[in-house]
Amino acid sequence: NWTMDNFIADQVELIRRQVGDQKVLLALSGGVDSSVVAALLIKAIGKQLTCVHVNHGLLRKGEPEQVIEVFRHQMDANLVYVDAVDRFLDKLAGVDDPERKRKIIGAEFIRVFEEEARKLDGIRFLGQGTIYPDIIESGTKTVKAVKSHHNVGGLPEDLDFALVEPLKMLFKDEVRACGKALGLPDSMVYRQPFPGPGLGVRCLGAITRDRLEAVRESDAILREEFANAGLEGKVWQYFTVVPDFKSVGVRDGVRTFDWPVILRAVNTVDAMTATVEDVPFSLLQRITRRITSEVAGVNRCLYDLTPKPSGTIEWE
Ligand code: XMP
Repeated sequence: NWTMDNFIADQVELIRRQVGDQKVLLALSGGVDSSVVAALLIKAIGKQLTCVHVNHGLLRKGEPEQVIEVFRHQMDANLVYVDAVDRFLDKLAGVDDPERKRKIIGAEFIRVFEEEARKLDGIRFLGQGTIYPDIIESGTKTVKAVKSHHNVGGLPEDLDFALVEPLKMLFKDEVRACGKALGLPDSMVYRQPFPGPGLGVRCLGAITRDRLEAVRESDAILREEFANAGLEGKVWQYFTVVPDFKSVGVRDGVRTFDWPVILRAVNTVDAMTATVEDVPFSLLQRITRRITSEVAGVNRCLYDLTPKPSGTIEWE
């Protein structure tokens, strides 16, 4: 009979048989799929696994720290933490076209990961958090038409790895259950979807460090307030966006010229269409008060009322 415990026991056995005494490399973003595959590989082969966490500077507040805490300290894994923040932001400087931004982030990610892979000699296997819906999607190709999606996929051909993909027959809810059974924290297992290019597509136009910081800080406030209001896990996805224009405002009787923050909260089944969450007005007001007083360079908050279509969920 199929139970999660049996699934884990079977996969541990299969992974050990496939890998033998060889080493496995894994790009660990901290997303649900890569975190669960990491936990499963750690259980199966321990230190034969090396996880590489690339901080591209576009992660949410606290994310790199959580990856280090959970995998290095709690699970005692081999974790290579790569601070590539300057590298990514330098490459992105002045680039305002959304598709070019995505391409640069995707290509640079592969380059950084490849460099790390070359430093670690004799690795033959690559772990991947492929799940069943990924296989269905890449079969039909319809989903990817609007924006170029970036998740680790294409690696240079001379880095000739065999893939270890123990989650590839699982649906998302089963992946979460697997992560829970392996002892990952709820905040990791139930976290909302987050795009590969991260906050980069929420810092509209050419990314600057100060505006990126405004996205990161406002996002952290929004998440905290949604959690306090009991909306965590109830609303499918919520985040903030900072556009690349300023408006006039006033603070303590003094004129300001600062950015607005756009709040977005949506529900969807398959991300192809989405509806806007009916967030209580008092909560929107509270979030507005906090963001405009706590986040540097921000003097307004707007709530995005646009469903998909005509908008997309993200702004870029
Ligand atoms: P859009 O903006 O196209 O987004 O309505 C649909 C869903 O996909 C997420 N998204 C991404 N996920 N890599 C991902 O893994 C990406 O490049 C990417 N771009 C958008 C978006 O957050 C939403 O949940």
